[in-house]
Amino acid sequence: MSQRNLEALDVGAIREAFPILQREFNGEQLVYLDNAATTQTPDPVIDAMSDYYREYNANVHRGIHHLSQEASIAYEEAHDRVAEFIGANGGREEIVFTKNTTEAENLVAYAWGLNELGPGDEIVLTEMEHHASLVTWQQIGKRTGAEVKYIRIDDDGRLDMDHAADLITDDTAMVSAVHVSNTLGTVNPVSDLVDIAHDHDALAFIDGAQAVPNRPVDVEAIDADFYAFSGHKMAGPTGIGALYGKKAILEAMQPYLYGGDMITKVTYEESTWNDLPWKFEAGTPQIAEAVGLVAAIDYLEDIGMDRIEAHEQELARYAYDQLDAEPDVEIYGPEPGPDRGGLVGFNLEGVHAHDLASIMNDHAVAIRAGDHCTQPLHDKLGVAASARASFYVYNTKAEIDDLVAAIDNARQLFA
Ligand SMILES: Cc1ncc(COP(=O)(O)O)c(C=O)c1O
Repeated sequence: MSQRNLEALDVGAIREAFPILQREFNGEQLVYLDNAATTQTPDPVIDAMSDYYREYNANVHRGIHHLSQEASIAYEEAHDRVAEFIGANGGREEIVFTKNTTEAENLVAYAWGLNELGPGDEIVLTEMEHHASLVTWQQIGKRTGAEVKYIRIDDDGRLDMDHAADLITDDTAMVSAVHVSNTLGTVNPVSDLVDIAHDHDALAFIDGAQAVPNRPVDVEAIDADFYAFSGHKMAGPTGIGALYGKKAILEAMQPYLYGGDMITKVTYEESTWNDLPWKFEAGTPQIAEAVGLVAAIDYLEDIGMDRIEAHEQELARYAYDQLDAEPDVEIYGPEPGPDRGGLVGFNLEGVHAHDLASIMNDHAVAIRAGDHCTQPLHDKLGVAASARASFYVYNTKAEIDDLVAAIDNARQLFA
């Protein structure tokens, strides 16, 4: 990515929209580097949600009064906006709002997996799956008799695509893969994986939790059958995520949750299902959150997803180079480049990641420490935990310098 792109992004102005970044702890200004866990929320998103509650709060699809009509339109159109954002030309019918990425995985696992899978079928995951996908498909495998297999990663933290080609066979019914690893930062060649899956008539689910927030994503170009992401990792609110599914597949699937709004006709004996996507959205949905998600998409697109990607890659490269220069720091995942996203997982020799995060916290530097919901991957890496610095549109190189200084503090404390 070019330097020109990075310079074009006015981080100073962007930061002004995020009042939380002004917080100080013990006299030091917050350095927020835990964006892969959740991103901060800009004023336009907060304002949009507060306008909703102040001006048109009502339940959707239930009332004929003005407020309900306004809320219903905003809620329905939010689906159209998400569809447009990720290149789903089928529009709202292909976008199901969920609580988050995890619920989207579970929706497909329960609604499709439990009905379609059985002994002899195989589910192929990657060794770098988040628990959201790994645990979910593991349990569906146990309940249906389908076998779960894992595509290996190589020593650089990339998927072994030869292994993928061997592992995915005519017995494979589902390939579920993370687009960008939340631990290694690897950007996986998901459209190649989808192609292999389709060559064997398998479906492909792509977990875009770490991709949609920070790069242009086109689900149709990837040709994913399902694609999921969370609002709270992309400057949006908590409590809302989205599942994209190809219309014909969603239509053939049974509902996952039953109740109000997902039905057309109910008698004491039988019920019939509403149209897409409402068939999968039982009960009162996340209306304010949908409004907030639209505001987040508008906000990010105003900046430009390609520029956000360039900015993150530049920060990741800078952080990688700084940390790589420290002989006692081990970094996980590929070297900086187009197939590495905006996060760096690492360990400081002789210091547990939790201690490191705690010392950083003393200096108001917020990072994540632990297994990042990838325990099997950490087992494979031979570590119980790692530290992770993850970047977003408002982060600066100066903040990465603060990170490195805090590592130095930890080193001295533990020397
Ligand atoms: C790659 C990946 N998948 C799934 C998830 C789960 O997201 P959520 O907790 O919003 O469901 C995360 C969250 O960290 C993630 O990084």
